[in-house]
Amino acid sequence: MKIFLDTANVEEIKMVKDLGVLDGVTTNPSLIAKEKKDFKKTVAEICEVVKGPVSAEVIALDWETMVKEGRELAEISEHIVVKIPFTKDGLKATSILSGEGIDVNVTLIFSANQALLACKAGAAYISPFAGRLDDIGHDGIDVVAQCQAVVDTYDYDTEVIAASIRSTAHMLQCQEIAVDIATIPYKVIEQMMKHPLTDAGIAQFLADWENAVK
Ligand code: E4P
Repeated sequence: MKIFLDTANVEEIKMVKDLGVLDGVTTNPSLIAKEKKDFKKTVAEICEVVKGPVSAEVIALDWETMVKEGRELAEISEHIVVKIPFTKDGLKATSILSGEGIDVNVTLIFSANQALLACKAGAAYISPFAGRLDDIGHDGIDVVAQCQAVVDTYDYDTEVIAASIRSTAHMLQCQEIAVDIATIPYKVIEQMMKHPLTDAGIAQFLADWENAVK
């Protein structure tokens, strides 16, 4: 399973890159706004660090401006994936940009039907949001699994990104459903590394070693 970091914070990205576990990055307008830095410069800096797929989202809602913004974003770096929200205009923009060879990540997907349409429009990635579905009493990972089944069953050339991942439990579920990619906040990477038995084991080994060499 590929791991993407869901952040626009360059320091967090560098830290995870150095761990050797980073396959890509996803940003969204909220994450970019949090950094209070220039959008295009930030995205360019992220691409330099990641040297892999970096999703940068369009702001427009009409397809003509989405396409214009998407083309401009794609010029920033070969690593840019243009992120487009799932709407009727978003589908049309996806179809145009993917036809030009630009990778598109269709985001804000909440059903397998939306996933199917995004795959057909040529999306390189689709992002079903698990956490936001959980928030309203649905089983978010179940919907991610349904989206993955669409891609696998019909053999679309699209990768599924489990998005809105909020916990280590979500990550275990992502592995169970064999999703292509999970995009996760830095906090969840830190939580995944921790296990009390690892800490206890190290403490025990060190104590035994010190006793033996005394
Ligand atoms: C994914 O591409 C989105 O940026 C992100 O996963 C949204 O997560 P949230 O629902 O925790 O904001």
